[in-house]
Amino acid sequence: MASDLSHSQAPQAETVFDRTRRLFHIPDGVIYLDGNSLGPMPLAAADALQRAAKAEWSEMLIRGWNDADWIGLPERVGARIAALIGAEAGSVMVGDTTSVNLFKVLSAALAARPGRRVILSDSGNFPTDLYVAQGLIATLGQGHELRTVSHAEMEAAVDAAGEDLAVLMLTQVDYRTGALYDMKSMTARAQALGALTVWDLAHSAGALPVELDACNADFAIGCGYKYLNGGPGAPAFLYVAPRNQASVAPALSGWMGHAAPFAFEHDYRPAEGVGRMRVGTPPILALSALEAGLQAWDGVSIHEVRAKSIALCDLFIELVEARCPELELITPREGAARGSQVSFRFEEGYAAMQALIARGVIGDFRAPDVMRFGFTPLYISEREVRAGVDILAGIMDNRLWDNDDYRKKAKVT
Ligand SMILES: Cc1ncc(COP(=O)(O)O)c(C=O)c1O
Repeated sequence: MASDLSHSQAPQAETVFDRTRRLFHIPDGVIYLDGNSLGPMPLAAADALQRAAKAEWSEMLIRGWNDADWIGLPERVGARIAALIGAEAGSVMVGDTTSVNLFKVLSAALAARPGRRVILSDSGNFPTDLYVAQGLIATLGQGHELRTVSHAEMEAAVDAAGEDLAVLMLTQVDYRTGALYDMKSMTARAQALGALTVWDLAHSAGALPVELDACNADFAIGCGYKYLNGGPGAPAFLYVAPRNQASVAPALSGWMGHAAPFAFEHDYRPAEGVGRMRVGTPPILALSALEAGLQAWDGVSIHEVRAKSIALCDLFIELVEARCPELELITPREGAARGSQVSFRFEEGYAAMQALIARGVIGDFRAPDVMRFGFTPLYISEREVRAGVDILAGIMDNRLWDNDDYRKKAKVT
């Protein structure tokens, strides 16, 4: 990887990432290693919010649905996200939260596999995925079972579930450790038994090349506010494989998923394609910000992003391990086996993270003891990784975390 700190005399050619860095507002003095939780604000998103409020909402009023094509926004944003996750345009819809979208695809998948009982997932999966599955099972009352095993046990557990397996529900990149599942082989393994797959891409969309169509995935969901930089609470996305779209039966059969919402018919008739997974009125202000944020990807190769992300993570691991022996790496060392984040375990990890944040290096903490750092090449450079580790090492060497103020838990960690 070319060094940012190179002292060569020749002027360096601007890279694609020098250009994308300027598209974001990063506050002065901040090294932002948390874009895997909430992406920073793209300057274009602020402009889009202003436009949507001032030129559209205030001036057009309800005419904006047609005149500003608000009604087409979920589809337009869906097409942009589809290109980033290896999905055919028209197979991604945007709206609702990741949790709600999971409910929608999981209920559709279970309905498509009647008589099969098991939803198989990872015991370390993000809690909302497990909670949604538990709630859905209770609501259906058909005797489904949520079975969870570790990443290492997953292949054997798929085989053991056999023809009882209804859905394999996995998050591609583990939110805590960053460990990456092989989407293609896990999908093939589950499908060989006749099961369907649901992939949570919260930590992979915009972080690495995702090939939903090439992997033959059935359903997927993911967040708009992490690597896609859509802003706090940005709408999430949902993917249905083209082959499943005509048969998928939405449990949340709302009017926006109807074939003709403005015909105001008495009975539900599903729209063609993935549009039937829409439920209610789309959040136009939030979608406008997300749409603008996605422009940062124009002209950017996700493969280049991946190569730089691996290099940044490798460098961070090497420097932290050399300088902070108290921290225990829990992320796979091999670049190909992880997403775009690196986590270390430390007993006083919460306090250490607060000490870091107080000094401008922002990561996050995941209970019980995990310090998590995200690396987002669109706006993070090697120089910032080195500077961030200098500050972390200073905190660890001098026990600067050992301060009761840093131990006071905030509501959001
Ligand atoms: C893997 C994973 N799935 C789902 C979610 C929750 O998404 P939402 O709050 O949009 O429902 C998160 C949030 O961080 C996540 O990391």
